[in-house]
Amino acid sequence: MTPATLVPRLRTDLAAAHFSVPGLTGLWGMEADAALRRNQRVPAQRALATLAVKLARNEPAATLARLFLFGDAVPRADLDAALPTLGAAGAERLGLVAAVDALVRPLVDLRPYSFIDAHGAGSWWIVSDLGELALGHPLGETHVLGIGGASRTLSGLMMPRAVERALDIGTGCGIQAMHASRHAEHVVATDISVRALELAALNAELNQIDNIEFRFGSLFEPVAGERFDHIISNPPFVITPRAEGVPSYEYRDGGMVGDALVEAVVRGAANHLTPGGVVQLLGNWEYHGETDAFERLERWLTPGALDAWIIEREVQAPGEYAETWIRDGGTRPGPDFDRLYNAWLNDFEARGVGRVGFGYLLLRLPDAASTRGTAPGLRRLERLPDALGHNPAGLGAHLAECLAAHDWQAATDDARLLRTKLTVASDVTEERHYWPGQQDPTLMTLHQGGGFGRSLPLDTALAGLVGACDGELAVGAIIGALAQLLDADEPALTAELLPKVRALFVDGFLK
Ligand SMILES: C[S@@+](CC[C@H](N)C(=O)[O-])C[C@H]1O[C@@H](n2cnc3c(N)ncnc32)[C@H](O)[C@@H]1O
Repeated sequence: MTPATLVPRLRTDLAAAHFSVPGLTGLWGMEADAALRRNQRVPAQRALATLAVKLARNEPAATLARLFLFGDAVPRADLDAALPTLGAAGAERLGLVAAVDALVRPLVDLRPYSFIDAHGAGSWWIVSDLGELALGHPLGETHVLGIGGASRTLSGLMMPRAVERALDIGTGCGIQAMHASRHAEHVVATDISVRALELAALNAELNQIDNIEFRFGSLFEPVAGERFDHIISNPPFVITPRAEGVPSYEYRDGGMVGDALVEAVVRGAANHLTPGGVVQLLGNWEYHGETDAFERLERWLTPGALDAWIIEREVQAPGEYAETWIRDGGTRPGPDFDRLYNAWLNDFEARGVGRVGFGYLLLRLPDAASTRGTAPGLRRLERLPDALGHNPAGLGAHLAECLAAHDWQAATDDARLLRTKLTVASDVTEERHYWPGQQDPTLMTLHQGGGFGRSLPLDTALAGLVGACDGELAVGAIIGALAQLLDADEPALTAELLPKVRALFVDGFLK
């Protein structure tokens, strides 16, 4: 068995074992699946034990799940049977397992991952470090993260536009770079963890992705002087006290004070984007004293250099924030937990941090050759704390459409907009409430089913306009008819409605 054949053999064996998301659900059922999502493995373990008794043998996928998902040692013979072309010996050579007498124990987490994006459905196998569930103790500081909630959030936000060059900063197990490889010709993936880069390269090879180049180094250092059409980063944004005895996890905290690492990515982006290029990242930001965090975010953006659309999804008080991240590191309530809790609160108090925001950042280097001309750039900072719309393939395509809509309307004067025929998007519905017995509604609301699931109140004129946008009549003709119907002054109605039409167009209610 030559080293070059090890990964192809692993791939062949995993596929033959049906080691896939539906394959595993088929072994243990939906309820055990739901329990696993809550980090509870007992129902799945019991289902596998029952299955083994019933079949009087171990299914290959069951052996692989016990080993790589639950962290159990399994008989070497079982692994030989589950990976018939690689064998336990090959798995040892790949650093996936270690032998202990007649048993093998896992050295990594290896699991199937399935997704839907703008290019369709896909599934991969992802190798990362063993999680807290398998280890039975808190994570090490150099832990390489598997796919978590934040990873899925960012990959779902990734705009799927075809580009030449993409950059993933802080690639970890490589998941964002792998997603980017679906729309970029070439991807550079960086990390300060050698182990992360090794695992990410293994994942790319295992899943036959050959357009990712891996580079070691911090933030933009490995790409000095280079520019990219799309930069993606799920950076280590967790705010961590720089105090004695507080663990500094490579995977979630970049070793800087407060939110300085997110600031560094934002400030560095303009020098590494091609004209029209976009950076998308997740971040935390601090609220200092009475100052709105958005004021600080505005200061991070070089005036005029970058278009910015920043969405704050959540805000946490210091205590809540500390609890979230101490638990995430695997520390349970007790004296150590309290010690860390105090360290977090001391840090926030000392630096005057009253709250911490979490959200999505989308920044773009304006393209001088684009349609934008002298139109104002995009500078949108908003709070969207509620549930998002239904987006099975993620929000990336919606973000791209919203950006394009912004650019179009920014370059379109009112006269041209009045001549434009618009259509209500297919996911838009209108809700009306009536006082009992009344014919006229007391409340009208427009709802978006996909995208950000936005809702907005309607008045009679706007409801009439939206309702008439069927692609047949120009906006100006609709407003003219409404002015007659409502006995309103047409220029005044036009002035009132056009900004609303622009906003509805940018948010994807009107197309
Ligand atoms: C939150 S993890 C994200 C992993 C993966 N991209 C994902 O989305 O799941 C952050 C990654 O950034 C890396 N990292 C930490 N500090 C860094 C730095 N200064 N420059 C580049 N990467 C860094 C960590 O090693 C870790 O792999």
